[in-house]
Amino acid sequence: MADLDRVIRTDAVVVGTGVAGLTTALSLRGFDVALVTKTALGGGSTWWAQGGIAAAISAEDSPRLHAGDTLAVGAGLNDPGAVALLAENAVAGIRMLLERGARFDVDEAGRPVLGREAGHSVRRILHADGDATGAEVSRALAAAAAGADHLEVHEHTFVTDLVVDGGRVVGVTARTGAGERIAILAGSVVLATGGIGRAYANTTNPVEVTGDGMAMAARAGARIGDAEFVQFHPTALDAGVDPMPLLTEALRGEGATLIDDAGERFMPGEHPDAELAPRDVVARAVWRRIRSGRKVFLDATAAIGDDLPERFPTVDRLCRAAGIDPTRDPVPVAPAAHYHMGGIAVGLTGRSTLPGLWAVGEASRTGVHGANRLASNSLLEGLVFGESVASDIAGVGASASVRVGEIADPGPNPEPTPDAVAAVRGAMWEGVGLVRDADSLRGALATIGRVTARLPAASGEARNLAEVAAIVAEAALARTESRGAHFRSDHPHPDETHLETAR
Ligand code: SIN
Repeated sequence: MADLDRVIRTDAVVVGTGVAGLTTALSLRGFDVALVTKTALGGGSTWWAQGGIAAAISAEDSPRLHAGDTLAVGAGLNDPGAVALLAENAVAGIRMLLERGARFDVDEAGRPVLGREAGHSVRRILHADGDATGAEVSRALAAAAAGADHLEVHEHTFVTDLVVDGGRVVGVTARTGAGERIAILAGSVVLATGGIGRAYANTTNPVEVTGDGMAMAARAGARIGDAEFVQFHPTALDAGVDPMPLLTEALRGEGATLIDDAGERFMPGEHPDAELAPRDVVARAVWRRIRSGRKVFLDATAAIGDDLPERFPTVDRLCRAAGIDPTRDPVPVAPAAHYHMGGIAVGLTGRSTLPGLWAVGEASRTGVHGANRLASNSLLEGLVFGESVASDIAGVGASASVRVGEIADPGPNPEPTPDAVAAVRGAMWEGVGLVRDADSLRGALATIGRVTARLPAASGEARNLAEVAAIVAEAALARTESRGAHFRSDHPHPDETHLETAR
């Protein structure tokens, strides 16, 4: 047994404290759960989400319509069972969130105010404080977790690897903020570690989103699915800031338009739904304009104008911090990596291909989003599938009595390698971005391979980032077609023979 400072035994371990991890952990009431995060409680992408949560709650809407929109945008790659589960349980997910203390924007009669986003055929987006939905979800769930007796919260604790014994995942190793090397052993391990946004030079994701869960699952031999499907958001604020601040799609839902530096509104020529076309279509149109030497702006001055500070306070603050008044001036925008549709391959209950390991939220690949996620389905995914994972674990009866042989030493923190990280991020942006081809993908893989060879052997964020980058690039090379967010200029059309790939 490695020379560990501590071994903790518990029923279940949940890694990650965004909406998916917090929901799973809270719903595992009745079990002792270690809730582990490398940040403070509530870190990750959830807090940053602006637009909202999709749910069919209006009289003109239905789960069937919501599912239909999700499938239409997903370009043929969705798992219909996962989509049905998401749409049919959306209202229950919202109810659970309300019970846990979240508050949404309501009108004078107390009815939720519903926003509109691209790909939705009706208004169905619940939001909080205008455009600070993620912050409200995060606040409510983190407060509930902090007060939950069944949870033992380990903040600032970096999970280095899964502990696998006889083919079964029986825990994790980790380094704590105080420098201890620990193992947490449990009958059920849930990875809710979020996406891979930091693998790209341009991203809306916070710095902690380094693909840790996907990397450690892949190292342990779990199947990864649809890794090539990375969603790029069309309208990140292009003001030289990293991460790039998001300008929510809800602005376009309220009529904001995309124009170039000649003042031309170009989306009507690209798609019948113009600015509300599926996200991949809008993102590529913006990207092509920028690559052709133009600048692109989001213009909310006419459609929203002076109401913007009240209706979109987060956007207003972000723009003003960059010296732009969005009520008066069009705001410079560019696409940025935003969400990973691929991840650890799981079924509807979140079980991975490794016994003892579940994955949930952006870290997982349920097939719910297909090749392109419908806006505001991601917080919902965390709510619905978090509940589903918790029920499954409760059904099998999580237990602390696992047997384990040798546990690998997590080792000390590796030295930071900012140049290596920058090289990977640059290679991913240039070679594995909105438009790829075989040459660009091979070039990126060569750079990632060179960088990886020079990284410290110990598991850390840089190694995880390089490993997930290679997985995404390899999957993109293998998929010789274009579908949803995966666009190959050397194979620009869909090819039905490619409807499913898995690493
Ligand atoms: C946004 O507010 O534009 C993002 C919503 C999402 O990614 O689902």
